[in-house]
Amino acid sequence: MLADLALVGFGNVGRRFATLLAERGARLRDDEDLTCRIVGISTRRHGAAWDAAGIDAPAAARAVEQGGSLGEGGGADATAALIAGLARSTADLRVVIETTTLDIRAGQPAIDHVRLALSSGCHAVTANKGPAAFAYEELSRAASASNLAFLFEGAVMDGIPIFNLVRETMPAIDVLGFRGVVNATTNHILSALEDGEAFAPALARMQAEGIAEADPSLDVDGWDAAAKTAALANVLMRAGITPHDVRRTGIGEASAAAAVRARAEGRRLRLVASAGRLPDGSIDAVVAPIALAADDLLAGLRGQANALVLSTDLLGQVAICQLEGSLTQTAYALVSDLVTIARQHRARRAAPPRRTP
Ligand code: HSE
Repeated sequence: MLADLALVGFGNVGRRFATLLAERGARLRDDEDLTCRIVGISTRRHGAAWDAAGIDAPAAARAVEQGGSLGEGGGADATAALIAGLARSTADLRVVIETTTLDIRAGQPAIDHVRLALSSGCHAVTANKGPAAFAYEELSRAASASNLAFLFEGAVMDGIPIFNLVRETMPAIDVLGFRGVVNATTNHILSALEDGEAFAPALARMQAEGIAEADPSLDVDGWDAAAKTAALANVLMRAGITPHDVRRTGIGEASAAAAVRARAEGRRLRLVASAGRLPDGSIDAVVAPIALAADDLLAGLRGQANALVLSTDLLGQVAICQLEGSLTQTAYALVSDLVTIARQHRARRAAPPRRTP
């Protein structure tokens, strides 16, 4: 099976995806009968490239990392032309890989990129939290109406399978709520603060590693966690909320005293994201620093570790942990979404036509 891919955005995540795809190309061919070809890339600041025969994407990644450009153009016009070009491909699968950065006001332009992909007959995969956090219902309806996929495994806990876990392995189960630590930057900072370190260098380390958002106030003010909370609530609980509906308290320099005090009391200060249903059926979603009892699973998460505990009706509490995060893990989420699309395509081809009653 041949998949032609168009990359919208070519920042840290997009470039690592390009190299990871090259590293795992043989494995995908052998295990999944899936050959992926990157035919186009569009960026806001580094130009755009198109080659229907396939781009040497790792070389393009190196060029951008050395300050070079992919070619003429870029921006919204290049993205529209890229998706139109992909739509003309005769490959088995046409997939837009969207990795632009999070816009917390309204989730744009990522939502428009996904909309355009789907309305052009292409599958849409994104690592951006915006589409699921702001427009999950609309986009998932549009995708299923056209037998296309809208997937976003990398939006929460990188490549750790949260959405896949529920979709693939928990049929007929209701997720009643969840609580977790879903932002690596703030968890690293809080761990450093409780060890007596200062806020600024701890944040600087996360920026240097490319873990913090391009605008790190999105991490420390709790917006990144709120976007993940909205995405989780929308997908797992059909909440229909946005990050702006999440009651949100971030962390700051003043958290140092609270983190040290919590530790002295045998507790741990963690930025906890949670959601549950109120008696009237509405969703209550919260992001806030909480001094957790030491035996709380979330209290044991140090550094960049994340975890999510799902409350379910049939399995009780189910927890999944990510002990370390990296760009590779986020890039892997995109690869795993591609494999999901390929498997769905194969299953659809193999399925006998539905009998009409
Ligand atoms: N800035 C995010 C974090 C990156 O610190 O968790 C992963 O979404």
